Amino acid sequence: MIVFDRLCRYVKCLDNFSSVLNLKTCSRCKSSSTSSHRWKIRQNKDEYVELAREQGFRCRSAFKLLEINDKFRLIRPENLVLDIGAAPGAWSQVASDIVFRNSEERIFQAGVRGVIAVDLLNIDLLSGVHILSGCDILSESTHSKISQLLIDKKCDVILSDMAPNASGIASLDSENLFNMNSTVYNKIAVKYLAKGGSLAFKFWQTPDLKDFSNLLKEKFKLIKTFKPKSSRKESSEVYLIAKSFI
Ligand SMILES: C[S@@+](CC[C@H](N)C(=O)[O-])C[C@H]1O[C@@H](n2cnc3c(N)ncnc32)[C@H](O)[C@@H]1O
Repeated sequence: MIVFDRLCRYVKCLDNFSSVLNLKTCSRCKSSSTSSHRWKIRQNKDEYVELAREQGFRCRSAFKLLEINDKFRLIRPENLVLDIGAAPGAWSQVASDIVFRNSEERIFQAGVRGVIAVDLLNIDLLSGVHILSGCDILSESTHSKISQLLIDKKCDVILSDMAPNASGIASLDSENLFNMNSTVYNKIAVKYLAKGGSLAFKFWQTPDLKDFSNLLKEKFKLIKTFKPKSSRKESSEVYLIAKSFI
């Protein structure tokens, strides 16, 4: 399984490599939009994009979770982790690396250990990860799929790097993210997080952040906000970390 995982990463590296080639073609292509052109130039210069390619991660966001976990020790070997908004899968790669750190094989075991990755989009196969692609975390049918995978156990860690599609109106986007995170908290975390478990949720630096952390204070012993170095400076993104679920 470990060999398989390395193979997946190698294939992904080739994938990344071919996308670099595409970037060069696209940058000369007159039909490519200015904003996507800017995005591609930024991607090319970004040191974390480069590091992700070198280390076989599916995208640069892997480093955000690595930083979060270095600082707060949320995920530990043998844990059951739920990764929400997981595509393309970089956080699940990091989580699986940690969960199976001491194991010879990476095999997801329902109700025992491994990573459950949920997204509306497709997530390619990853060892140690049970993938729920095409699943909306806000829908009841997804909740029952998660429940079946947990059997009688609860998650040790719940991660959410989700964000709604940007509308361009900051206050509306912020309200949408607040509603999304509140639903995940009330319908998933409260129900499926083990006592003593931890959360990491993406948020934006808006007044809603304070309201949401006040909500979490009722149920967690420790709440922190954290901006990883690998999170782009121009982004208002931060992570809300909650530890020791009561
Ligand atoms: C920033 S990306 C996550 C990147 C991921 N952490 C990684 O490291 O690969 C956010 C993801 O949230 C997903 N998402 C947004 N709304 C969702 C919903 N209602 N249910 C499930 N996934 C959702 C999007 O499809 C997108 O893939």
